[in-house]
Amino acid sequence: MSELLKDKIERLRVEAQNLHANTAEEVEALRQKYLSKKGDVSLLFDDFKALTKEQKAQWGASVNQLKQQFESQIKQMREQMESKVQTVAYKEDLTRTPDSIGLGARHPLSLVREQIITIFSRIGFTVADGPEVEDDKHVFGMLNFAPEHPARDMQDTFFVEKQEGVQKPTDILLRTHTSSVQTRALTDWAKALNNDPANAPQSLRILCPGRVFRNEAISARAHCFFHQVEGLYVDKNVSFADLRQALLYFAKEMFGPDTQIRLRPSYFPFTEPSAEMDISCDLCGGKGCAFCKGTGWVEILGCGMVDPNVLESCGIDSKVYSGYAFGMGVERIANLKYRVKDLRLFSENDVRFLEQFESC
Ligand code: PHE
Repeated sequence: MSELLKDKIERLRVEAQNLHANTAEEVEALRQKYLSKKGDVSLLFDDFKALTKEQKAQWGASVNQLKQQFESQIKQMREQMESKVQTVAYKEDLTRTPDSIGLGARHPLSLVREQIITIFSRIGFTVADGPEVEDDKHVFGMLNFAPEHPARDMQDTFFVEKQEGVQKPTDILLRTHTSSVQTRALTDWAKALNNDPANAPQSLRILCPGRVFRNEAISARAHCFFHQVEGLYVDKNVSFADLRQALLYFAKEMFGPDTQIRLRPSYFPFTEPSAEMDISCDLCGGKGCAFCKGTGWVEILGCGMVDPNVLESCGIDSKVYSGYAFGMGVERIANLKYRVKDLRLFSENDVRFLEQFESC
């Protein structure tokens, strides 16, 4: 028995010295052949159990040594295989130009907002900013909204701080339109005119781009937030003709030189007279199609002459100054340009939608 064991140990020692593998799989096969539960080295221990105490003492060390020899050989081979994999990876052509990282695209609303700003900046408008979380006074009160005006209702406005049933100028809400920036800019200008009339700007010509919020059920055609760009021009002797001319210029720049406009009478508390502006439908050239519902016109913005009450509530003398204002939805203009059928796409940030627009 001991001779047999001795032979087996000897044979395995030779095999251990000559282990050879080309791949990680072959190393694993060797591990299984020698070191797994039913492997050749493990089986030696079965033989070993049958030995006498003296024989065990004689051969124990040799069997353990053999096991360790296999273990360290296989470990070494495994490490070699791993470094081989890495070396192969690094052997790829390091001078090759790497695949370019896909460029992002501009959001269509950013593109359209910027285009609107560029067009109006050419005729002297500059951008003004105001808070999205506003008080009742700046969103409604100073803009000539009657206390019981339905827009103040919880149905339309998200209130942040409001006392049940009572309406106060200090109620806090999410602005429902960017006209709130008008009241802030007019008040600041009035202060400048009062403090230092000689050095104060002689007119106010601002664009107010921004996000607005309305308590609407979200659908393909409405969202609880959207974007507006509002324009305001106040000076001495500003007329409705000035408004019409500025808007005609905008329409032609935005939608092409053949675009025509029409102004329909409308109502806004803060403008008098008020109007809604349509542009000729560029899909059918004004003949009438499904997009313009057969009318040949599509509505794009609200406008009018600033109501004297608004000027007065901001501290501007309405006998000296007059002005016009207009406000448009950025999503609406983007829809006309890109024919996006579902408004929700603008706020979902789905790259499949976004990557279709002008890349950065
Ligand atoms: N604030 C109006 C709205 O939100 C738009 C508007 C602005 C109309 C300025 C007239 C003048 O619908």
